[in-house]
Amino acid sequence: MKKLYILTLNLLCVAACYAQEHNMSANYVAPTDELVKTKLQNWQKLKFGLFMHWGTYSEWGVVESWSICPEDEGWTQRKGPYGADYNTYVKAYENLQTTFNPVKFDPDKWVKAAKDAGMKYVVFTTKHHDGFSMFDTKQTDYKITDPKTPFSSNPKANVTKEIFKAFSKENFMIGAYFSKPDWHSKNYWWPYFPPKDRNVNYDPAKHPDQWQKFKDFTYNQIGELMTDYGKVDILWMDGGWVRPKSTIDTTVDWQKAITFNQDIDMPRIAEMARKKQPGLIMVDRTVAGPYENYTTPEQQVPDKPLDHPWESCITMGNSWSYVPGDKYKSANEIVTLLIKIVSRGGNLLMNIGPGPDGDWDPVAYSRLQQIGSWIKVNGEGIYNSTSVAPYSEDNIYYTKADKGNTIYAFVTSAKDQVTLPASITLHLQDINKVKNVVLLGSGKKVKWKADKGTVNITIPAALQTGSGLTQAAVFKVQY
Ligand code: GLC
Repeated sequence: MKKLYILTLNLLCVAACYAQEHNMSANYVAPTDELVKTKLQNWQKLKFGLFMHWGTYSEWGVVESWSICPEDEGWTQRKGPYGADYNTYVKAYENLQTTFNPVKFDPDKWVKAAKDAGMKYVVFTTKHHDGFSMFDTKQTDYKITDPKTPFSSNPKANVTKEIFKAFSKENFMIGAYFSKPDWHSKNYWWPYFPPKDRNVNYDPAKHPDQWQKFKDFTYNQIGELMTDYGKVDILWMDGGWVRPKSTIDTTVDWQKAITFNQDIDMPRIAEMARKKQPGLIMVDRTVAGPYENYTTPEQQVPDKPLDHPWESCITMGNSWSYVPGDKYKSANEIVTLLIKIVSRGGNLLMNIGPGPDGDWDPVAYSRLQQIGSWIKVNGEGIYNSTSVAPYSEDNIYYTKADKGNTIYAFVTSAKDQVTLPASITLHLQDINKVKNVVLLGSGKKVKWKADKGTVNITIPAALQTGSGLTQAAVFKVQY
């Protein structure tokens, strides 16, 4: 009995800690700027976006940035020939800049694959925690366009610009991922002290001039991204430990460990950024307040609708960055994730890590293609939809069309080929007003009856196994 009690307690703690560690922040503050509100509403209709983590770390096929962070976490372990001694490792890591040459880089190919899969927005790592800028910044030479980097002589060397341009042409919303911490900047990890952990390694209150330099550097880099890269819709800022001390949530483990006030002056950044990009959506991740316009649960799906705009960011493989031989989720798993997320009112931001040659693993293309086949038939129940009670029951998930009186019931399948049961029961409100039920993609009518608060659908035997549908069947219920 005692064992069971302890086990239950442990499970509860694991669940709570999981939510905290995975970047779900509470206390949402809605934006007041009309342009931001409108853009946010439009973004919520898009439902499916592409995330990309790409940098020199892809050359070694190791975790993005974290292997140079002196913390003893599972994901920070150093591997490979330079693994043993920290300083040698960091030197070799930063030296990757001199060999980065992704000659297969072709953003149009990515746009095509993403568009065919039904993705509508993109978020790209312009700079991750390691500080390597994937854009032509003037604030540092630790960047892809520096002459030390072989790819700098390529006409597409400013990859952020090329990616934003290519995706904009196809009307994607454009998101710039930007890490607030910068482990290369001498004003963040001051070489006078060794770095101790992910945080700034000196007290900004004791060395305000140095911290001011870091604030200006950040402001200037974001300024460049907001000025020279066309229309940017989302500024997705990671590294939540760079935050005013007053905003720390001490119930979250990694926030408890933040020793110093790391106020980067977000109001100043926001004012400048929104002057250049009116209506810009700001995502100051985990820093609940006016600059976290939507929340970003990471590698997880909230178990019910949230009362504010949100997006689950989830890897297609196991890792955010390219790892050779990474195991990719199946198209079936991805479609199921998308359905769950959309039925709870969120967006899915699906990550693919480009390799050191500048292309994706062929498996990623094939997954996108399968997802696209499904979206072409069933996308009308995904885009522009809102969540609707009862949200889900067993393996049935609901969405409601933004306009018109239509509800979609998604019946997920554990296998690629859908096998339908002989009957399906939907619990819907206003069933007396139901006019028609159609199975999308089958071209066949199904029999249905509204009765005692339920809609009962009968599936003819031939259709149960012979629907030809993949991943999930969608019933369109018209009022
Ligand atoms: C995790 C990773 C970080 C990555 C982020 C994306 O926090 O530690 O490297 O950029 O997820 O959401």
